[in-house]
Amino acid sequence: MEIINRRQRMASLARKLRRENKTIGFVPTMGALHEGHLRLVNEARQMCDIVIVSIFVNPTQFNDKKDLEKYPRDLTTDASLLAEYQVDYIFAPEANEIYPDGFSTYVYVEGIAEGLEGASRPGHFRGVATVITILFNNIRPDFAFFGQKDAQQCSVVKRLTLDLGFDTEIIVVPTVREENGLAMSSRNTRLTIDEREKASIIFQGLKEAKLAFKNGERNATVLEQIVRDKIETEPLARIDYIAVVDNSTLEPIESVEDNEVLIAVAVYFGEVRLIDNTIINRRQ
Ligand code: PAF
Repeated sequence: MEIINRRQRMASLARKLRRENKTIGFVPTMGALHEGHLRLVNEARQMCDIVIVSIFVNPTQFNDKKDLEKYPRDLTTDASLLAEYQVDYIFAPEANEIYPDGFSTYVYVEGIAEGLEGASRPGHFRGVATVITILFNNIRPDFAFFGQKDAQQCSVVKRLTLDLGFDTEIIVVPTVREENGLAMSSRNTRLTIDEREKASIIFQGLKEAKLAFKNGERNATVLEQIVRDKIETEPLARIDYIAVVDNSTLEPIESVEDNEVLIAVAVYFGEVRLIDNTIINRRQ
């Protein structure tokens, strides 16, 4: 496994691998790796000849400076985990490699990037879309792997891939959960032991809505209220949003008809903001 810091070296290496007809699987991360990331890496390892993982805490996607400063960073631990998973290359650039002096070109995905996380975290998806475009352009992967936990991010990345004509297939991997159901996230380490236990209420709320749907409930407001009522039983939880939206447009819906529906939530425990989601009426 090699750690690459320079953008030019990453690009020339990826070019060479493509000339050798190797399929490249790419897992973009911000480090602080947990089982959720490792599931993505594992999937990439099974599907591709070469696995490249990027570790870059992307400053442009943080609308809260404190959040950026507190983001956990530990390249040594991350690298040893990735070595165990037989990753071929880690791309770990400094910020000025990605954003050279005078940087002023951003990618803005209209529509799907504007609601949910986009509304709560202005500028977040502009940062994500910009860095993913730079990384995709640099590596030109055949496959790129993202977690379902960040459902809106998956939609934004799929949209930009299509719109900008990248020859990359986006693979969405199911959310990995802690034993109590809490979705794995680098932010979980910032929760107290008590908060981490109590945060399982988020998944319980989503499960109750899913069950209600199975039992015939189709009204979006009712489904939303089921999640809200459950999460509100936990005094430590502070809801940012609960949304019931069409899974392809991310537009709010009134009732579940033929389309897949995403129920997405963002909830604070203390200062830590957690997101999670479930899909109902899933197409096979
Ligand atoms: O999901 C993340 O960790 C980040 O948003 C990503 C995709 C690595 C872009 O910085």
